[in-house]
Amino acid sequence: MHVPLIAGNWKMNTTVSEAIELVSGMRRGLDQIAHVDKVICPPFISLAAVRELIKGSSIKLGAQNIYFEEKGAYTGEISPPMLADLCEFVIIGHSERRQYFDETGEIVNKKIQAALRVGLKPILCIGERLEENEAGRTEEVVTEQLGSSLAGIDYLNGLIIAYEPIWAIGTGKAATGEQANETIGLIRRNIAKLYGKRIAQDVRILYGGSVTAANATEFINQPEIDGALVGGASLKANQFLSIVKQAAEIRQLLSG
Ligand code: PGA
Repeated sequence: MHVPLIAGNWKMNTTVSEAIELVSGMRRGLDQIAHVDKVICPPFISLAAVRELIKGSSIKLGAQNIYFEEKGAYTGEISPPMLADLCEFVIIGHSERRQYFDETGEIVNKKIQAALRVGLKPILCIGERLEENEAGRTEEVVTEQLGSSLAGIDYLNGLIIAYEPIWAIGTGKAATGEQANETIGLIRRNIAKLYGKRIAQDVRILYGGSVTAANATEFINQPEIDGALVGGASLKANQFLSIVKQAAEIRQLLSG
């Protein structure tokens, strides 16, 4: 059984001082919850300050994006070695980056390769649009995204996948536990085809899209779902704490 992982994607929210305040409000509570990997992903500018704040705790740190070149004349970009020095995880291929910043499968693939090269653990996001879902194309879309994102990658080395149906992100209209479980099962079967059964069993696959303290258990309870990528609700200390607590309780129930 996997250690569940709950990651908070703060997106483009919080100034440095607001980030410090948010982390200060949940640091102790989060640190006390065992058997769950707790990851927070603040904006780049707050990574260093947050890293200091969570030093010595069980809370882990992630970034929300990365550039694939190692260094050089790429004004405004952040390289893999810069991040590897600061954090352990990096979200790659989020649908907002695909939609607003024209990130293609090829770019996502380069970013994943670059992250893995420096030992960062990518949280690879995939998921279908509403029209694709309604046209019954979910399987085709996530299979294609998975294939292009992972092309030429032989070892997953701690890579995490987040299934985030685009119609569920920030809409308050989450998928049902069964829907998410079914698609995540399909993603896992695809990983088995690409990397073999063992790796497919080992890889952690999260659900994301309007996860809140009110519905988290519905997802984490599903056999194929190993945790959640939480957007809006991760900006409220008590909501995020409650989601992590629910994951810990389910884990204890299942292993007890
Ligand atoms: P949401 O975002 O929880 O606000 O829907 C999830 C995400 O985009 O990672």
